Amino acid sequence: MAFLPYKTKSIEKIRLLPKKERMDRMRRAGYNLFFLNSGDVYIDFLTDSGTGAMSQDQWAALMRGDESYAGSASFRHMQKAVRDILGFPYVIPCHQGRGAENVFNSSLVKNGMIVPGNAHFDTTRAHIEHNQGLPLDCTIAAAYDFRSRNPFKGNADLKKLERILQKYSGRVAYILLTVTCNQIGGQPVSLENIKNVSRLAKRFRTPLFFDIARFAENAFFIKMREKKYRKWPIAGIVREMMRYANGALMSAKKDAIMNIGGFIALRDKKLFQELGPRAILMEGFLNYGGMAGRDMEALAVGLGEGIDEEYLNHRIGQVKYLGEEMAKIGIPVLQPFGGHAAYIDAGRMLPHIPYNQFPGHALAVAAYIEGGIRGVEVGSLMEGRDPETHQNKKARQELLRLAIPRRVYAKEHLDYVIGVFREVWKKRKNIHGVRFIYEAPILRHFSSRFSIEAKPR
Ligand code: F0G
Repeated sequence: MAFLPYKTKSIEKIRLLPKKERMDRMRRAGYNLFFLNSGDVYIDFLTDSGTGAMSQDQWAALMRGDESYAGSASFRHMQKAVRDILGFPYVIPCHQGRGAENVFNSSLVKNGMIVPGNAHFDTTRAHIEHNQGLPLDCTIAAAYDFRSRNPFKGNADLKKLERILQKYSGRVAYILLTVTCNQIGGQPVSLENIKNVSRLAKRFRTPLFFDIARFAENAFFIKMREKKYRKWPIAGIVREMMRYANGALMSAKKDAIMNIGGFIALRDKKLFQELGPRAILMEGFLNYGGMAGRDMEALAVGLGEGIDEEYLNHRIGQVKYLGEEMAKIGIPVLQPFGGHAAYIDAGRMLPHIPYNQFPGHALAVAAYIEGGIRGVEVGSLMEGRDPETHQNKKARQELLRLAIPRRVYAKEHLDYVIGVFREVWKKRKNIHGVRFIYEAPILRHFSSRFSIEAKPR
């Protein structure tokens, strides 16, 4: 693993409950890991969103927060960081990524319009649909091929994209590239693909936007996997990536290493003027948009720290280490490893559990009981039901995501997790599927309750 480019200044105590208590907590939580108290979790790999550790410079920046409603100096500091690092002149602060999505899509997406992209994140998809638009994924086939070692599984399929642009000519609101692509395992998009998508976008006179929640991780993969950029600094790759976009939506809870925050960044003054009033209505005045002044200060610092190459090398190294050690045990993990999480293919690991008993979720429950680890299912449970037939949708993959928070866990923690999964692997044939006791009508993975199937079928 790469060397650790920081040391600990402040710590947070965590505890490992005895196994009997873990079983009890899990039962009382209705076998839903979202209902566990965080204090009952030893290693929390639920998400890398908002869970990173801020640096001493970010904490110091908080004290400089200018909480003025209008004309805040903190806003100007954040705007300068966005201009310097990403190259977009106009910035609209928002309380988090989905706040930015709400402002953006409510303006750009009208009834029956199409938004194609590599693979949209679920809140993005929901905001497009909420505005009567149709999100369309143009993922390359390799993205769902377990055996493929394509280094850029996040790339958009250019042929599919071109067909959509032709077929829906005049109805395409914009194209969205999510870098890295969370929905398919934190996989990166190459600069070559970005350039080709941009070329198509220009040809069809359609604006191109990026979802940049994890842009720095994407830039690091470009440096590592795309020969031409091997010697480029990360900052240069980031600027080169952004050159091809008309603007970007950011959840600062990821690569800006913030606990909360986000923004819309734009190149075009006219669009900025169009979105501004909506942002005031939905998020807050243009100089804060739902963020405290102190948060904008910390964001300005965090955006710079997020593109530090030594930090990225260590972070991406952690995901790779976790993934590689799992693979050595025999556990089927998605490869090449992505940017923010290791993904276990629970469908392959637990073939005795049918999709409608949710193998990814069953594995998440087993990992908590075995070692107090919390991950999240990304599979048929999260997919929900078909709105017309009411049948469970069958996901293309039944995954368990183990997302690593930024700058939080050390190698000892990862080794502990690997040890726990070694045990889970040995006991895999005894892991049972789950059944609903209560099924929530929307976003069911958050608030349903389950029982464990008596016998694996
Ligand atoms: N875009 C991407 C690619 C995301 O992964 C997320 C959130 C969002 C947008 C929405 O941002 O949470 O700040 O409103 N992903 C989190 C996750 C929730 O766990 O992967 P948000």
